[in-house]
Amino acid sequence: MKKLQLDYLDLYLIHQPYGDVFGSWRAMQELYFQGKIRAIGVANFHPDRIADLIANSGFAPAINQIETHPFHQQTENQKFLEENNVQIQSWGPFAEGKNNIFHNEILIEIGNKYNKSVAQVILRWLVQRNVIAIPKSIRKERMAENFDIFDFELTKDDFQAIQTLDTKASLFFDHRDPNMVKWLSERKLEM
Ligand SMILES: NC(=O)c1ccc[n+]([C@@H]2O[C@H](COP(=O)([O-])OP(=O)(O)OC[C@H]3O[C@@H](n4cnc5c(N)ncnc54)[C@H](OP(=O)(O)O)[C@@H]3O)[C@@H](O)[C@H]2O)c1
Repeated sequence: MKKLQLDYLDLYLIHQPYGDVFGSWRAMQELYFQGKIRAIGVANFHPDRIADLIANSGFAPAINQIETHPFHQQTENQKFLEENNVQIQSWGPFAEGKNNIFHNEILIEIGNKYNKSVAQVILRWLVQRNVIAIPKSIRKERMAENFDIFDFELTKDDFQAIQTLDTKASLFFDHRDPNMVKWLSERKLEM
């Protein structure tokens, strides 16, 4: 906070469900109760990890930030999170451009109906699903484009078309893959 020149943080997350999660969570809860962090949450937690955290700390994360985009829609995961009062937040809403997402024919066709871009269709789809999105762009005009999604509404048919894109799998990696857990943990030790 000193480096950021802030008196409090709006939101602070545990990045991955590895290592001393409960130690971190206790420290974060303390800061939350002191008012130094307004909300605390997690990222990349599968439902079993969320259930464990809630059951053994008695404190539900405000959000779980997970990979969520048209190719990995996380519908069941979202239902579980909502049942546990955890807000779903999408990282990689554009799948970081993978699978040629910005040239996807289904998304382009939907966008053409409303005079909106593929990026705007995706963000509108997330917002209508009550998924918080944190798109990343280094370009000012794209940041403006990404905010300009509140003057149109996707229909049931649009939703059904987008649903056909779901592969129900990560385009990046599986947080439950032991090799990845080992690799990430070693990388963390090096840092
Ligand atoms: N919790 C985690 O484990 C985790 C993992 C990954 C990412 N994240 C976070 O998630 C957020 C989202 O970032 P992300 O990098 O994952 O992916 P993303 O938002 O899916 O994609 C970013 C890419 O889309 C491009 N883009 C943005 N707006 C666009 C538009 N309107 N039209 C065309 N292209 C557009 C960007 O290019 P330009 O920049 O050139 O515009 C960039 O190449 C970030 O805050 C990141 O830190 C979290």
